Amino acid sequence: MEKVTVPLGARAYDILIGHGTLPTLGQAVAATGLEGRCVVVTNPTVGALYEQPVLAALTAAGFSASVCRVPDGERFKTAKWLGRIHDHLLEQGLDRHGFIVALGGGVVGDMAGFAAATFLRGIPFVQVPTTVVAQVDSSVGGKTGVNHPRGKNLIGAFHQPRLVFMDMAVLATLPRRELLAGMAEVIKYGVIADRAFFDYLRGHVAAILALDPQVMARVVGRCCAIKAQVVADDETETSGRRAILNYGHTVGHAVEAVTGYRRYKHGEAVAMGMVAAARIAHKLGRLDARAVAAQVDILEAFGLPVALPRGMDPNRVVAALGHDKKAAQGRVKMVLASAIGQVELVPLAPDEIGRLLA
Ligand SMILES: NC(=O)c1ccc[n+]([C@@H]2O[C@H](COP(=O)([O-])OP(=O)(O)OC[C@H]3O[C@@H](n4cnc5c(N)ncnc54)[C@H](O)[C@@H]3O)[C@@H](O)[C@H]2O)c1
Ligand SMILES: [Zn+2]
Repeated sequence: MEKVTVPLGARAYDILIGHGTLPTLGQAVAATGLEGRCVVVTNPTVGALYEQPVLAALTAAGFSASVCRVPDGERFKTAKWLGRIHDHLLEQGLDRHGFIVALGGGVVGDMAGFAAATFLRGIPFVQVPTTVVAQVDSSVGGKTGVNHPRGKNLIGAFHQPRLVFMDMAVLATLPRRELLAGMAEVIKYGVIADRAFFDYLRGHVAAILALDPQVMARVVGRCCAIKAQVVADDETETSGRRAILNYGHTVGHAVEAVTGYRRYKHGEAVAMGMVAAARIAHKLGRLDARAVAAQVDILEAFGLPVALPRGMDPNRVVAALGHDKKAAQGRVKMVLASAIGQVELVPLAPDEIGRLLA
């Protein structure tokens, strides 16, 4: 099993990455010092596949566990369903010594993590991420929360998990489109922080698509190590360092907003956003053409979209940029690459971005 530590002092925790390791979850949880009662939060899709082995592993290690299912989908990542999780925790008599196990993708992880952050002023939780997005991004770093009718992730808290436990074998059941969308975030890590990793991805497209266990563990492990470092440098997003994780997300979020969050998976929108950012950096003389082409090539190799949707009015994208919650003084801090493996934050006015996009 591969191990990455998130070095956060008293809040430090391990990310364990293995293959076929789900039956050992209970021992790994026990090794963190947790004991007693826990609630596994999942959804019907993931629950039908993995809640039995997870319950068995926890029970075998001496935990008493019950399951709380929330419906499958981003539209259920709400205060209402958060409340249902709280209800379940109370019904089960969970006290401050209890803990939550989040079993699922980013939707379940964010919501279960926020339930843990808020229940009895905060109880521990364990992430068992089952999508690529959750493994390389949402389960690491402690951002938890739910959506609000006015916007995504507006209600939330920083609450670090006690352990992140990943079994790569669960990816076998992940829909292909989810796998590919997750690869956009994986490629993002190469662009923002690690040229050698970017090249590794280019050389292992077939192995990744075939979910080769060793290759997947290495890929996910490297992403987690990069994210762990960024999070350790800027745990609560105050120094600006953590913003580099938003590479491709400025235009990506705008595309998602313009298309009502329905047409594209988040990762697909990020893929378009990365190419847009690469082209903007090139037009500003910050990035050479080969580095733009390299990003387009690898995203295409994973079947990801690289151009803004045909017929999409660039003015609508620009209008949506202004609503970016990270915009300051009318300017958007865009993450731009100066080379593969190196990025900078560049403040740009939305209409400037619009001109560069055209
Ligand atoms: N907290 C953070 O730092 C952070 C970072 C990135 C994304 N997010 C959040 O993560 C969410 C997106 O997460 P996601 O992409 O994992 O989506 P998701 O949780 O909706 O999962 C995608 C789909 O895959 C299914 N699924 C999950 N694992 C499966 C498996 N192993 N086999 C079969 N089906 C499986 C789910 O039921 C769902 O239908 C968004 O809400 C986003 O805001 C949070
Ligand atoms: Zn993202």
